[in-house]
Amino acid sequence: MCNMRDQYGKVFGLNFASTNSLVVGDLAMLQEILISRFSAFPNHPKIPVEEKPMDSAINNLRDNHWRVVRNTLSPAFSSKKMKQMNPLIKDCCDQLLQNVEEQRSKGTVLQFKSLYGSYSMDVIASTFFGLKVNSQKNPNDPFVKNAKKCFEGSFFSIRLLAVFLLPWLGPVFDLLDIGIFDKEVKVFFHSVTSKVVKARQNGEGRLDMLQLMLNAHKTELEGEKGKQDDDEDDEDEMVTLNDETAPSIQKQPFTIDAIMANSMMFFLAGYETTNACLCFSSYLLATHPEMQERLIEEVDKFCPSEESVCYEVFSKMEYLDAFVRESLRIYPPVATADRRCDNTTTVNNYKIGKGTNIMIPIYAIHHDPDVWDNPEEFRPERFSKENLPNIHPAAWLPFGVGPRKCLGLRLALMEIKFALIRMLQKYRFETCEETEIPPVLSKKTGFICPPNGIKLQVKPRKC
Ligand code: HEM
Repeated sequence: MCNMRDQYGKVFGLNFASTNSLVVGDLAMLQEILISRFSAFPNHPKIPVEEKPMDSAINNLRDNHWRVVRNTLSPAFSSKKMKQMNPLIKDCCDQLLQNVEEQRSKGTVLQFKSLYGSYSMDVIASTFFGLKVNSQKNPNDPFVKNAKKCFEGSFFSIRLLAVFLLPWLGPVFDLLDIGIFDKEVKVFFHSVTSKVVKARQNGEGRLDMLQLMLNAHKTELEGEKGKQDDDEDDEDEMVTLNDETAPSIQKQPFTIDAIMANSMMFFLAGYETTNACLCFSSYLLATHPEMQERLIEEVDKFCPSEESVCYEVFSKMEYLDAFVRESLRIYPPVATADRRCDNTTTVNNYKIGKGTNIMIPIYAIHHDPDVWDNPEEFRPERFSKENLPNIHPAAWLPFGVGPRKCLGLRLALMEIKFALIRMLQKYRFETCEETEIPPVLSKKTGFICPPNGIKLQVKPRKC
């Protein structure tokens, strides 16, 4: 996309998979599309397959249906809920540190793609499904096996690619009941979800996302009061229902299918992205030792013990925040986002026709020298408290921006910061012969990840 920007400019048309697309890398125009004129661009382009029950996952929903589900799920990602997740994430970090120490003490070079991959999976199993799996140690656990299959068989699926490139295949796939997701995987997750939901209905309590979705379900049925009580400190903006002509589906509760579809969707949206960010952040620490020292100082000041690591302390750790933001700028795990124009409209003198797909080149914007001074240089100070107000609202887009931005943003940052702090309390990251400098990047299928992983060594801070 960077090459195309240099060749065609910041806004250009593209005919991709027989659909008109407009690539928009101009910040003022993006601010209009994603924020100010959101009502004309509220949806993603439609994938031409009716995949049950995945069509009830939030990213596939449209218009009023999406707004209602987003408003119902948002409270599950509030700051208050994140604080309640502290003990679950702490357990997963304990496991990560144990796995790191086992491999380090054997003198092996550490493959962080696999270590953080297991950590991300443990967090998802624990925070969404209420399961404790330790996926590093138990690769044959049915959850781990199916979860891996589910990932391999979804975004990277040849079926998904075929549907995107040959949209007319969608109805044919529907007719033949060929899904994007493996059938066995869907059956497995359906049975896990049903079992957990049943156990909860029988009074077995546990604090995780599934429980929060069940509570959201109850809130939907019981009205607004419970919602307010539960989320008094939720600073998330709710998506307002501007569209008064749209039929109200406010009363629709979450079915087991919808809970399962959303849990699977959260897993797909959060697994590889969080893993990639942790891998790149660790690589950047190892290759910028002076920054690593500065971060260690901050960690020692605010988190002197394992117990002191918690969501509440992150807001005080300004350098950690700047470091992670800069890491997500230089290596955004999601390279492009999209929208569909639903009402013909004019934005900054471009007439955009109904049905046009808008492509948002996140990676190219993050590496645009007109937007970022010397963009290839890793410089966390760009995100210092003083500099933050000077950053354009559409310049930093790892999670998107506007009402349809990433729903899991808070959870992702919490998971990432938790693991980095716990690692730095104990170790320093260092490069070794096996470290690829710079790392090879795979940009296939819209994700940026290190296909060969990130190999580093760690040195204990205190022997
Ligand atoms: C570093 C980690 C992550 C990155 C970089 C990331 C990035 C993104 C991006 C770019 C989008 C599209 C936004 C747009 O179109 O404007 C998105 C959407 C979404 N993400 Fe994430 N994400 C991450 C982690 C997570 C996690 C952990 C979850 C799970 C809870 C999650 C759940 C979602 C959902 C549900 C959506 C769709 C929201 C909607 O359509 O309303 N993400 N994410």
